[in-house]
Amino acid sequence: MDEQPALKTERLLLRPFVASDALAVQTLAGDRRVALMTGDIPFPYPDGLAERWISGHPEAWAQRTTITYAVCLRDGDTLVGCVGLRCVERHLRASLGYWIAVEHWGQGYCTEAASAVVKLGFDQLGLRRIEATHLPGNSASGAVMRKLGMTHEGVMRSYFIRDSESHDLHLYAMLSTD
Ligand SMILES: CC(C)(COP(=O)(O)OP(=O)(O)OC[C@H]1O[C@@H](n2cnc3c(N)ncnc32)[C@H](O)[C@@H]1OP(=O)(O)O)[C@@H](O)C(=O)NCCC(=O)NCCS
Repeated sequence: MDEQPALKTERLLLRPFVASDALAVQTLAGDRRVALMTGDIPFPYPDGLAERWISGHPEAWAQRTTITYAVCLRDGDTLVGCVGLRCVERHLRASLGYWIAVEHWGQGYCTEAASAVVKLGFDQLGLRRIEATHLPGNSASGAVMRKLGMTHEGVMRSYFIRDSESHDLHLYAMLSTD
């Protein structure tokens, strides 16, 4: 099995998650201001889930189904967030997802980390399309998508249900040829 490469940006190191990140993931991603803005992070965040989630990453990398990066400061120890791609191999397409710990918001970390993962997706994984979605109230996420160079493709109405409530989602995407 080939190893998932670490990615370096000006201020950040993106590396695979390791088991010892689990408590930080549960605490940071389990913050309601993070979890409730996403489609797949439960709130409250149950014990044991972060360990199980991290343990699945090597196989998902090997299959190229999901590519997940821990976003760290350049020391490699301070976890500030997560960026990932969920790939649909048949269509050379992936959806981009991310979260940044609340105390690190507003410093450009998400845009910096996601840019590196988008580049990996197009240059190394051969993707032709990378898309992303956000809830209507999540203007910061929309700003990240635009800063990445994505195009707003529309609003998917009643696309997503959380706690029995339907939500619209804004859809953004970029192509390898953009
Ligand atoms: C969305 C999120 C990842 C952004 O992380 P970040 O590191 O703060 O992002 P960046 O600093 O790279 O960019 C944020 C941009 O949003 C803008 N922004 C922040 N709050 C905003 C608001 N309420 N309205 C409009 N824009 C806003 C910032 O000004 C910045 O844009 P700028 O650089 O042009 O000024 C972070 O807020 C987060 O983790 N939110 C909860 C989880 C989540 O929403 N995940 C994505 C699900 S779609």
